[in-house]
Amino acid sequence: MNLVKVKNHEEMSEQACRIVLDKVSSLPSPVLGLATGSTPERLYELLIDQYNRKAVSFAHTTTFNLDEYVGLDKTHSNSYRYYMENQFFKKIDIQKSHTYVPNGTGDDLEQECLHYEKLITDAGGIDLQILGLGLNGHIGFNEPGTSFSTKTHVVDLEFTTRKANARFFRSAKEVPHQAITMGIETILQSKQILLLVSGKQKAEALQRLFYGDATEEFPASVLKNHSNVTIIADEAAGVPGTARSLSNRK
Ligand code: GLP
Repeated sequence: MNLVKVKNHEEMSEQACRIVLDKVSSLPSPVLGLATGSTPERLYELLIDQYNRKAVSFAHTTTFNLDEYVGLDKTHSNSYRYYMENQFFKKIDIQKSHTYVPNGTGDDLEQECLHYEKLITDAGGIDLQILGLGLNGHIGFNEPGTSFSTKTHVVDLEFTTRKANARFFRSAKEVPHQAITMGIETILQSKQILLLVSGKQKAEALQRLFYGDATEEFPASVLKNHSNVTIIADEAAGVPGTARSLSNRK
């Protein structure tokens, strides 16, 4: 794993923006894996800026989002489809039919998972997957204990995950209990992975990722088994290998 140490969330987003732009500019039909949450919000803004300056076009880009809540349709302001439309897709020139987010409202969610896997395969796989890091080490919505060999599947969300995400909802009770997520194996099949880590609330998870073994009890640790992973972490997250990282662990 290649670690890039940056000062803050802004610098993390700028570095990530450069990596995404390089990928999109260097491939005829790039396929990006996208994440939601607070971490990549600024990255999307910077990419939109670059698009407005005509420095990049997404006309030939295809995207696959990591996950979606079960039961929230695309018009629900907390659905990840809604997030992506409003924070990114509708502000760039991507073809809507080339943007994929799992559908958490279908009648047959198992079928939806199989279909999502097939769509990724048919697109030729993901060239660059952007990931955030859950407080409990989850990637996508793969909670601790998830087998490293899972493909896209339905998950029961941990109480801690629902609590962490309650800040986006009017009340904690509204946070869905289930989600569809790309599996760990799906994520690991991406050709390149970019993990973004920002904020002191992520310090403990980042330390564990860096110094712990690869174990299904800590999903992000699977990234140790991939040959092209870049982690961009800011000072508040306690960049491993520095005195600051240890003092920030609390
Ligand atoms: C959420 C999402 C993940 C995200 C992570 C971190 O639950 N399912 O895809 O990367 O948790 O979120 P945040 O960036 O808001 O800290």
